[in-house]
Amino acid sequence: MSPIATPSLPRSRGPLSHALISTIAGEAPHAQTFPVPHPVIADPLGADAQLALYICYELHYHGFSGVDDGWEWDPGLLAFRHELEDQFLATLRGQTSGANDATAALDRLAVEPQQGSGLSDYLSERGTWVQMREFFAHRSLYHLKEGDPHAWVIPRLSGAAKAALVAVEFDEYGGGRVERMHSTLFANLLREAGMSSRYLAYLDCVPPESLATVNFMSLCGLHRNLRAALVGLFAATEITTAPSARRIVAGLTRLGAPRACRHFYTEHIEADAVHEQILRHDIVAQMIQDDPKCEGDIVFGIEASELLEQRLARFVLDKWNRELSSLMPVAGG
Ligand SMILES: [Fe+2]
Ligand SMILES: [Fe+2]
Repeated sequence: MSPIATPSLPRSRGPLSHALISTIAGEAPHAQTFPVPHPVIADPLGADAQLALYICYELHYHGFSGVDDGWEWDPGLLAFRHELEDQFLATLRGQTSGANDATAALDRLAVEPQQGSGLSDYLSERGTWVQMREFFAHRSLYHLKEGDPHAWVIPRLSGAAKAALVAVEFDEYGGGRVERMHSTLFANLLREAGMSSRYLAYLDCVPPESLATVNFMSLCGLHRNLRAALVGLFAATEITTAPSARRIVAGLTRLGAPRACRHFYTEHIEADAVHEQILRHDIVAQMIQDDPKCEGDIVFGIEASELLEQRLARFVLDKWNRELSSLMPVAGG
């Protein structure tokens, strides 16, 4: 797999993302002060704020072509990002329970809903190939950097929990083999589906509901004080992925999809069943034993990621049930 080509800046979606994009495009950070230190954020979960936050975070991953690397740690840009993060976090905290029982929260996730109402249920039973490809586009934002937001937590853990988390990440990165990295498997899936495997190819096409799921991972990965929330969201992902991957495989088989499309998901049926056990027993339980005060944050990570996934599913299913596209009508490459 060739190295990632630095992506282009996306199109703005409102005044916040416009101010950010127009400032960082082509200007080195020392040339001017960031112009929006205290932004007015009408909707922290909306398209403008979520895209602006996504761009801020992307400076820590691969950056953008034509954007000076120095913007990553520009104080003005960080102050702007801080305001976006504060309101994003406040919104999520306001919509989660504040509960303190991680085992109960994980057990609840592990119980399959009686009547399937998620994206994978829809795709398993009646999704079209066009809708399946839309699903791939939404997921491409995370799967093409699979494991990366979680890797930031490694130096913030210690002891047995740290060793166990690295074991899970080792699998996400293909056990040291580039052709088995999960991001590589997803790039193969995209190409076999006739789609672009270019990093961030679909950034302009996805709704804020998709951006928010990945922004939450980056937020928790980048803040040491959210390390337990990062572990919570990682556990939630691992618990829900195996059953949903099984349903996606059923949908892909029903549609006669290419083998590489199925391979990404079949790989996750087994791998994530193992990862779930490691997350539950060797990481979450160990962290709580080491520091009982972190349990509330673990629950927050579980609940907030679940909330954001449900929001995305509602948005997409509402579109599909009305026979509309869940992507924005912008060419993504
Ligand atoms: Fe994975
Ligand atoms: Fe996994």
